[in-house]
Amino acid sequence: KIQGVIFDLDGVLTDTAEYHYQAWQKLADEEGIEFNRQDNEALRGISRGASLMLMIKNRKFSESQIQEMLERKNRYYVDLIVNITPKDVLPGAIALLDELRQQGIKIAIGSASKNAQVVVERLGIANHVDAIADGYSVQQPKPAPDLFLHAAQQLAVPPEQCLVFEDAAAGVEAALAAGMWAVGLGPSERVGAAHVVLPSLAGVKWAELQDKLREAVA
Ligand code: G6P
Ligand code: MG
Repeated sequence: KIQGVIFDLDGVLTDTAEYHYQAWQKLADEEGIEFNRQDNEALRGISRGASLMLMIKNRKFSESQIQEMLERKNRYYVDLIVNITPKDVLPGAIALLDELRQQGIKIAIGSASKNAQVVVERLGIANHVDAIADGYSVQQPKPAPDLFLHAAQQLAVPPEQCLVFEDAAAGVEAALAAGMWAVGLGPSERVGAAHVVLPSLAGVKWAELQDKLREAVA
């Protein structure tokens, strides 16, 4: 029986995945690095540092240049997220958060982002969740299971009784590595490894989803 639900933030509860993309694109353009929306798919859910490494491929930069680029990308991102309001919570999210709470299920955010706290507050959903695990919580980023295990610990729910909602391949991998249930949001080319794949949180009913999970392992 699932007692804890962990939501990834960027691309699951809100479309900040788009803002991350725009910030990376701006940095890439300034640096003359070839990068586009398609390339960005590989960065979904990946930590800031690992994202930059994937972007620059085998181009050589010094440690201080890398630090500067990471700070610059974050400035662009921070400039974009000041505009976030409760209207930016994706369809279906509030209804599901409410339903879960009503059912007595513990709820956490499990995001690799160091900006997760700010985004959660701007979205006005801080009081809908019991815990936030973010980019400061653990050392090993997704696809390592550490972040989700940390979230489960904060909720005091064993991993096998936790369910994760993820929009990223690395996130689904992390959830499975943690021994949790995984629901992938988006195209199955991206999140097909999850137990259940849905287009988004819109219209998700807890009872129906639990049936689908049971079918998936039957
Ligand atoms: C999330 C996003 C990634 C982002 C990462 C780090 O996982 O999906 O696109 O790179 O967080 O975010 P940060 O705000 O710390 O740069
Ligand atoms: Mg995400």
